[in-house]
Amino acid sequence: MTDIASLQTQLLADIAAANDPAAVETLRVAALGKQGSVSALLKTLGAMTPEQRQSEGRAIHDLREAVSAALAARKAELENAALDAQLAGERLDMSLPAPPRHEGSIHPVSQVMDELAEIFADLGFAVATGPEIEDDWHNFTALNIPETHPARAMHDTFYFDREDGEGRKMLLRTHTSPVQIRKMVADGAPVRIIAPGRTYRSDSDATHTPMFHQVEGLVIDRGIHMGHLKWTLETFLKAFFETDDIHLRLRPSYFPFTEPSAEVDAWYRVEKGRRVLGGSPDDGPQETNPGGWMELLGSGMVHPKVIAAAGLDPEEWQGFAFGCGIDRLAMLKYGIDDLRAFFDGDLRWLKHYGFSALDVPTLSGGVSSSGVGA
Ligand code: DAH
Repeated sequence: MTDIASLQTQLLADIAAANDPAAVETLRVAALGKQGSVSALLKTLGAMTPEQRQSEGRAIHDLREAVSAALAARKAELENAALDAQLAGERLDMSLPAPPRHEGSIHPVSQVMDELAEIFADLGFAVATGPEIEDDWHNFTALNIPETHPARAMHDTFYFDREDGEGRKMLLRTHTSPVQIRKMVADGAPVRIIAPGRTYRSDSDATHTPMFHQVEGLVIDRGIHMGHLKWTLETFLKAFFETDDIHLRLRPSYFPFTEPSAEVDAWYRVEKGRRVLGGSPDDGPQETNPGGWMELLGSGMVHPKVIAAAGLDPEEWQGFAFGCGIDRLAMLKYGIDDLRAFFDGDLRWLKHYGFSALDVPTLSGGVSSSGVGA
């Protein structure tokens, strides 16, 4: 009996002193394993008389219960302590300032393209696209600019030194107008699209870059007239510049692909040496109302030859079209001075003039944006 009692005292002391789960496991095997000290005592039960089993047997069973309970308790204790230590090591101080975020921003040109899509979607226009590597039929001929037409020379075209399978000269499109042709050829009439995208001309100075952006507009339907064109452009420009204080002038002009053609000018005021859209020439004489007309875009009624070139009957279908420089729109709206900086890829410029990716233009939330840097 005293053997059992002293074994129990020893084992419980060893268990209490074990300070990691592996040590507890070693003690368990040493006591309760096949060759264990407690197991050895249990094996003696078989040879005992009923009386011995009554007294000594109970003591051995109690020993086994006490030892396995102590092992389980110590194991749980050590595991809890390990978890507490791990949690303490992973503690975060939520009151510390957040680390700086490395986030990109939306280029003003992309922002303006999104704004245009939003404004014109509300007027029922879809967004169409076409290839930047075009052929001279889509870029010129189908738009009523034949080989000998002076407008071809005026476009400062980048040509490739190869032709396509149909013997057409390949080039970088000089405007977004070829998308008009591609859209009509692909889907017929009616048409209501805008086509924003990159365009190219061999031209480079403070106000021209060899790559620039345009947005084309095209409406083809029955009974379309200049009134539809004027209303659409006015509605678009007021929504884009987010003001009704815009005074427009349609000035007779010439484009081979429209007849009649009109260039659209808007009145600008001079504020702190900067041109700002708004006001009108009726506001007063130049001395008190300094300002002038600024050309915004080209437009007109689609030439019957263009409609026919795209495979539609010009007796049945009429329409209007317009083309507008996107970079210029972005500069005007967001007060950016130098066009060339648009394409320098300078991170400081992008950070200042860029827009947050979360600042998606919507009509309900305001198509405009305050910008990342603002
Ligand atoms: N394609 C012309 C350009 O690049 C702009 C333009 C003018 C487009 C009149 C049109 C239009 O659709 O009707 O200068």
